Amino acid sequence: APRYPRYTREEVGRHRSPQDRVWVTHGTDVFDVTDFVELHPGGADKILLAAGGALEPFWALYAVHSQPHVLELLREYKVGEL
Ligand code: HEM
Repeated sequence: APRYPRYTREEVGRHRSPQDRVWVTHGTDVFDVTDFVELHPGGADKILLAAGGALEPFWALYAVHSQPHVLELLREYKVGEL
Protein backbone atom coordinates (compact mmCIF):
# COMPACT_ATOMS: atom_id res chain seq x y z
CA ALA A 1 0.00 0.00 0.00
CA PRO A 2 1.28 3.51 -0.77
CA ARG A 3 2.50 5.63 2.12
CA TYR A 4 1.14 9.15 2.33
CA PRO A 5 2.56 12.22 4.08
CA ARG A 6 0.96 13.18 7.40
CA TYR A 7 -0.63 16.61 7.92
CA THR A 8 -2.22 18.35 10.91
CA ARG A 9 -5.71 19.88 10.74
CA GLU A 10 -4.00 23.26 11.03
CA GLU A 11 -1.99 22.60 7.86
CA VAL A 12 -5.14 21.46 6.04
CA GLY A 13 -6.83 24.68 7.17
CA ARG A 14 -4.27 26.76 5.28
CA HIS A 15 -5.65 25.44 1.97
CA ARG A 16 -8.98 27.17 1.60
CA SER A 17 -8.92 28.77 -1.86
CA PRO A 18 -7.87 27.85 -5.38
CA GLN A 19 -4.88 30.22 -4.96
CA ASP A 20 -3.71 28.33 -1.84
CA ARG A 21 -5.07 24.97 -3.10
CA VAL A 22 -8.31 23.53 -1.80
CA TRP A 23 -7.83 20.73 0.73
CA VAL A 24 -10.51 18.79 2.60
CA THR A 25 -10.55 15.84 4.99
CA HIS A 26 -12.78 12.79 5.11
CA GLY A 27 -12.12 10.55 8.07
CA THR A 28 -8.35 10.70 8.51
CA ASP A 29 -7.66 11.13 4.80
CA VAL A 30 -6.54 14.44 3.27
CA PHE A 31 -7.49 15.43 -0.29
CA ASP A 32 -6.40 18.22 -2.63
CA VAL A 33 -9.59 18.79 -4.65
CA THR A 34 -8.48 22.04 -6.32
CA ASP A 35 -8.80 20.50 -9.77
CA PHE A 36 -12.31 19.22 -8.97
CA VAL A 37 -13.80 22.51 -7.74
CA GLU A 38 -14.94 23.63 -11.19
CA LEU A 39 -16.19 20.10 -12.03
CA HIS A 40 -18.37 19.73 -8.91
CA PRO A 41 -21.99 18.95 -9.92
CA GLY A 42 -23.17 20.94 -6.88
CA GLY A 43 -21.21 24.04 -7.92
CA ALA A 44 -17.86 25.60 -6.99
CA ASP A 45 -19.44 27.80 -4.32
CA LYS A 46 -20.81 24.83 -2.40
CA ILE A 47 -17.64 22.74 -2.43
CA LEU A 48 -15.60 25.76 -1.28
CA LEU A 49 -17.70 25.91 1.91
CA ALA A 50 -15.81 22.81 3.08
CA ALA A 51 -12.38 24.08 1.97
CA GLY A 52 -9.72 23.64 4.64
CA GLY A 53 -11.78 21.33 6.82
CA ALA A 54 -13.92 18.23 7.15
CA LEU A 55 -16.46 17.15 4.55
CA GLU A 56 -18.66 15.21 6.97
CA PRO A 57 -20.81 18.10 8.32
CA PHE A 58 -21.69 19.13 4.77
CA TRP A 59 -22.17 15.65 3.37
CA ALA A 60 -24.50 14.91 6.30
CA LEU A 61 -26.77 17.59 4.84
CA TYR A 62 -26.45 16.48 1.21
CA ALA A 63 -27.15 12.74 1.04
CA VAL A 64 -26.36 12.73 -2.68
CA HIS A 65 -22.76 12.04 -1.57
CA SER A 66 -23.72 8.76 0.16
CA GLN A 67 -22.96 6.72 -2.93
CA PRO A 68 -19.92 4.56 -3.70
CA HIS A 69 -19.05 6.48 -6.86
CA VAL A 70 -18.58 9.70 -4.88
CA LEU A 71 -16.00 8.14 -2.54
CA GLU A 72 -14.27 6.53 -5.51
CA LEU A 73 -13.95 9.94 -7.15
CA LEU A 74 -12.69 11.52 -3.93
CA ARG A 75 -10.02 8.83 -3.51
CA GLU A 76 -8.32 9.99 -6.72
CA TYR A 77 -7.46 13.29 -5.02
CA LYS A 78 -5.86 11.86 -1.88
CA VAL A 79 -2.58 13.57 -0.95
CA GLY A 80 -2.06 12.65 2.71
CA GLU A 81 -3.35 11.54 6.08
CA LEU A 82 -4.00 13.29 9.39
C1 HEM B 1 -23.46 16.69 -5.97
C2 HEM B 1 -18.87 15.37 -5.16
C3 HEM B 1 -18.55 18.69 -1.61
C4 HEM B 1 -23.16 19.92 -2.35
C5 HEM B 1 -22.24 16.03 -6.04
C6 HEM B 1 -21.93 14.93 -6.94
C7 HEM B 1 -20.66 14.58 -6.73
C8 HEM B 1 -20.14 15.43 -5.68
C9 HEM B 1 -19.86 13.48 -7.46
C10 HEM B 1 -22.92 14.30 -7.93
C11 HEM B 1 -23.50 13.05 -7.27
C12 HEM B 1 -24.58 12.39 -8.09
O1 HEM B 1 -25.48 13.07 -8.59
O2 HEM B 1 -24.54 11.14 -8.21
C13 HEM B 1 -18.37 16.17 -4.14
C14 HEM B 1 -17.01 16.12 -3.64
C15 HEM B 1 -16.92 17.07 -2.66
C16 HEM B 1 -18.23 17.70 -2.53
C17 HEM B 1 -15.93 15.17 -4.15
C18 HEM B 1 -15.73 17.48 -1.81
C19 HEM B 1 -14.46 17.21 -2.12
C20 HEM B 1 -19.77 19.28 -1.45
C21 HEM B 1 -20.13 20.23 -0.43
C22 HEM B 1 -21.43 20.57 -0.63
C23 HEM B 1 -21.91 19.83 -1.79
C24 HEM B 1 -19.17 20.72 0.65
C25 HEM B 1 -22.31 21.51 0.13
C26 HEM B 1 -21.89 22.46 0.95
C27 HEM B 1 -23.62 19.19 -3.41
C28 HEM B 1 -24.96 19.29 -3.96
C29 HEM B 1 -25.04 18.36 -5.00
C30 HEM B 1 -23.76 17.69 -5.07
C31 HEM B 1 -26.05 20.24 -3.48
C32 HEM B 1 -26.26 18.08 -5.90
C33 HEM B 1 -26.15 18.85 -7.18
C34 HEM B 1 -27.35 18.56 -8.10
O3 HEM B 1 -27.58 17.38 -8.43
O4 HEM B 1 -28.02 19.52 -8.47
N1 HEM B 1 -21.14 16.30 -5.28
N2 HEM B 1 -19.09 17.13 -3.45
N3 HEM B 1 -20.88 19.05 -2.25
N4 HEM B 1 -22.93 18.23 -4.11
FE1 HEM B 1 -21.01 17.69 -3.77
